[in-house]
Amino acid sequence: MLSRDNRFTTEVLLHGGDYNPEQWLDMPEILEKDIEILKKTRCNVVTLGVFSWSFLEPSEGDYRLDWLSKIIDRLYENGIRVVLATPSGARPKWLADRYPEVLRTDSRRQKMFYGFRHNHCLTSPVYREKAAAVDRELAKRFGSHPAVILWHISNEFSGECHCPLCQAAFRRWLRGRYADIDELNRRWNTAFWSHRYNSFDQIESPSPIGESQLHALNLDWRRFVTDHTTDFLRHEIEAVRAYSDKPVTTNLMYYFGELDYFTLAKELDIVSWDTYPTWHKDPLIETARDNALWHDMMRSLLGRSFLLMESCPSSTNWQGVSKLKKPGLLTAQSLQAIAHGADSAMYFQIRQSRGASEKFHGAVIDHYGGEDTRVIREVTGTGDALEQLSCLSGTQVQSQAAIVYDWESLWAMHDSQGPRNDGLHHKELLLDLYHACRDHALNVDFVNEDVPEEQLFGYRLLILPMVYQFREGFAEKVRAFTKKGGVLVTTFWNGITDGTDLCYLGGTPHGLMDVLGLRSAEIDGLYDREENHLAPASREPSARKDLSAVSADKETALPEGPDSGFYASRGSYVCRYLCELPALAGAEPVLFYQDDFYKGTPALTVHRFGEGEAWYVGAFAERALYEDLIGTIIKRRSIEPVFKGALPAGVEVTSRVRVNGTQVCEEYLLFQNFGTEPVMLSLSAETFETVYGKPDEPLPVYGTLVVRKRK
Ligand code: GLA
Ligand code: ZN
Repeated sequence: MLSRDNRFTTEVLLHGGDYNPEQWLDMPEILEKDIEILKKTRCNVVTLGVFSWSFLEPSEGDYRLDWLSKIIDRLYENGIRVVLATPSGARPKWLADRYPEVLRTDSRRQKMFYGFRHNHCLTSPVYREKAAAVDRELAKRFGSHPAVILWHISNEFSGECHCPLCQAAFRRWLRGRYADIDELNRRWNTAFWSHRYNSFDQIESPSPIGESQLHALNLDWRRFVTDHTTDFLRHEIEAVRAYSDKPVTTNLMYYFGELDYFTLAKELDIVSWDTYPTWHKDPLIETARDNALWHDMMRSLLGRSFLLMESCPSSTNWQGVSKLKKPGLLTAQSLQAIAHGADSAMYFQIRQSRGASEKFHGAVIDHYGGEDTRVIREVTGTGDALEQLSCLSGTQVQSQAAIVYDWESLWAMHDSQGPRNDGLHHKELLLDLYHACRDHALNVDFVNEDVPEEQLFGYRLLILPMVYQFREGFAEKVRAFTKKGGVLVTTFWNGITDGTDLCYLGGTPHGLMDVLGLRSAEIDGLYDREENHLAPASREPSARKDLSAVSADKETALPEGPDSGFYASRGSYVCRYLCELPALAGAEPVLFYQDDFYKGTPALTVHRFGEGEAWYVGAFAERALYEDLIGTIIKRRSIEPVFKGALPAGVEVTSRVRVNGTQVCEEYLLFQNFGTEPVMLSLSAETFETVYGKPDEPLPVYGTLVVRKRK
């Protein structure tokens, strides 16, 4: 299952999940029963060994792998493949007792006791050696086993350690980055409050009881933690690679702010992630989009298909309320991952544990243990659907739009004080822009500032939502993209600081002022209770008209005249939180602030640059504005959505294509109804053939329809 370039591919979509047989070794009849249920539920893969260390190595150097070997063989005989984990996510007690250096120290410099999981010092030479040693044993024994298709390195990497070993590693990392302490002092602006360092040895990691206000220190610490975790991941990958050429993954998480996943993912052959959305919020489409955004993010990390490694087949036990999944939702959730480019739908977990903290976490097989359960029926239905959709494996998602999501910029922006410590609402803005693209049936990728220029040229639309920090070279790529004919959409609070959080002198957004035809002069924070409004200056907020028509009308023409073609679905748009006030230098104003002392100041502008154009949205506007803007851009610039027909509210559409060289040779459309009622989609049988679902009947809520475009 490894293609020539070491990418992970499968002929079928994977269905299965985390399985912890070590909790049942004294009940062999349970293990036999599990295999029967796995087959009946159309599961073709399980993840083994995530937390098995104390069974694999019950005491130092005493490796016991026979129990695992028997299980892998039994699974293989029954047609079930294995994703094999390295066990470093939770350590055995003997290891912590004998070598306390493996235990973490927190940012208050307090040493932890043994317990819990995901809490090791990743610098500790002992921890590194012990983890690599058990990994090598696993790889030696199972690295060529035909059942094993993928390595699952550790589990949900997270956290940081501030022990003396980690302090030394941080100082080494800083020396490598700055070489000279004066350079560091300059880049960090340590002259502020007289915090200059005389040598690298004086530097301590950030602490709530020590240095926490030096933003460049905080930022570099976050970078170090990512690099160090990535280094640990690499260390484990090297250990398994010594005996196995199977591909590797590690499981990532939703909105995980601690690690820059673009950096971490570079070590992987395929990205995988764990998703636990709280469905059943109103309206359903909000949760669906929020989850879809992270599927798209995961696909974007390596720009190819990914795996849904964990999801809950019923209800979790760690969320505020453990809500059952309504009938049909499990299949909808699983197929949503597929729609966005996953090649699997997998669960946490196959069998529910009997004791400890996850005993009430949902599983395919519950404590009752029978096959006649609702969850097993839902899982089986999902397995059937995945089998019917196996033609999708090997296809990919191509996107017309890209949104910039940059962990480093977000760290710096959220750490800064001002312009709105009561909340910048970046997440909300990101989701609003994502909704706007998806409502117009665009596939969306996410990129960070390190995106290769060539990749940018593949998109028609590039969106920069509050990209606060512009690292060196980023603005140049955005300029080149626009100049070559791309459409750039920027918001407020862009390009404010450089890579060590020093404010740019000479105006912002740095490097893009001529592209946008303006400079952002000031930014106003609004209290939660405050609003402003955006509208064409000369009209009352209640007026509702198509502005492209309006611009021909002498009475109400936009002040600067040139027709932006902006289609306004409403007469005015509410805006909140942040209002940036631009000084125009060539941009055409389209909408203006309606209230406060800056009434009449432009807030939405457009500017031609080279072959392309650059839009600027200066205020945190209601979602409708972004929807109208994306709609306008699609029309103006003839951007092709994946589906041209009308999309009823709440319906999602994504396309997956099979590519031969650079030619698209097959195209699938996946429709899902996350609305409130069944809807009829108008798809002509001449254009599309059905792969899954019933195109002649209304698409029910949670329903999925998959069609292939006829040649
Ligand atoms: C995470 C972990 C699993 C399990 C689940 C529970 O995703 O990787 O081991 O704890 O959460 O939802
Ligand atoms: Zn440490």
